Amino acid sequence: MSSKRPSGHLDTDCIHAGAEALPAPFGVNTPIVTSSAFDYRQDHVRYPRYHNTLNHEVVARRIAALEGGEAAMVTASGMGAISAIFFSLMQPGDHAILLDGLYGGTMDLVEGLLAPLGFRFSIWNGQPEDLPVLIEERTRLIHVESPTNPLMRVVDLAATARIAREQGVVSVVDNTFATPICQRPIELGFDLVMHSATKYFGGHSDLLCGALIGSSAMIDRLRPNVIRLGSSLNGQDLYLLERSLKTLAVRVERQTANAQALATWLHSRDGIDRVHYPGLDSDPGHAVARGQMHGFGAMLAFRLDDDRDPEAFLDALRIIQPAVSLAGVESTIGQPSYTSHAKLSAEERARLGIDERVMRLSVGIEALADLKHDLDQALG
Ligand SMILES: Cc1ncc(COP(=O)(O)O)c(C=O)c1O
Repeated sequence: MSSKRPSGHLDTDCIHAGAEALPAPFGVNTPIVTSSAFDYRQDHVRYPRYHNTLNHEVVARRIAALEGGEAAMVTASGMGAISAIFFSLMQPGDHAILLDGLYGGTMDLVEGLLAPLGFRFSIWNGQPEDLPVLIEERTRLIHVESPTNPLMRVVDLAATARIAREQGVVSVVDNTFATPICQRPIELGFDLVMHSATKYFGGHSDLLCGALIGSSAMIDRLRPNVIRLGSSLNGQDLYLLERSLKTLAVRVERQTANAQALATWLHSRDGIDRVHYPGLDSDPGHAVARGQMHGFGAMLAFRLDDDRDPEAFLDALRIIQPAVSLAGVESTIGQPSYTSHAKLSAEERARLGIDERVMRLSVGIEALADLKHDLDQALG
């Protein structure tokens, strides 16, 4: 059987890329393969943990097309994807460079599991001129996010990838916040892209999954450990993920338009100390973001003024729901000091500028007027 080739237009590829041309009785949707047992007397032994059922293959091809990679794997969570990267590209004693302020779960993996096993790490401030001095003989990878969670800091991706390549170091980017609709790091020179597909790829706050995208050779390097670590998704969840991907472009475009308008409005609203959003002219990351993003994404952060009670503000919201995760069609809000960054020490949070008044807003697809009104009445 043959699969549909990417058209190069993301709107079309969200719906069609990688779909299998199936006999007429199956209709237009990929059937859900529920089997975990297959006839072994063939060249290609299938088993769900080997990532080679029909549902695995269709979704992987689609995600690879969206990110502009040759190959992809869908993992059981974003952390499943990150774990496979570190365990595949590094040995104990090897060294990796991590952007300052990465997602708290990534730092917890590094500090709680990898460092005790002898993996070594340095923290990078995100300035390209300060990167080369951190590279050692045993540096194997550089891991960045852009924009970062939660303060939406922007890293110059093309410069990072260029330095990594010159030094023979693998460049890895967590593209969860931007999605390929707003940013395609492989085109900017990155070797490997990962996602918490729990977020925009899933998009409806009802899936836990991850993704890895790169060249075929890079994905082949990761595949054995993804399989060994047991990081695989079942057919039902893969089907839901494929269904969600069909609307990725329309969701993210609408969410991004809402976020840009809300960030601009919050920026001049009484009661708001500061807004972090790369789409604002005043944002320190704006110039770099303009050069590497197509739309600035649908996540933003803001800090309430010191005289505002964060609990009272959250209690007063009627549409926007306090929630730990992000990127659903519904708008959600959270305090990173109690969620993504709760495991950091108070000193570390203070250094990053994250306190209980910092709110991370995941902007949904609701009517902009309703979202604005909700924030307005809660701010009083
Ligand atoms: C930027 C980022 N990367 C990775 C992860 C981890 O993904 P998951 O929760 O799907 O394991 C998260 C989760 O919030 C995230 O926000």
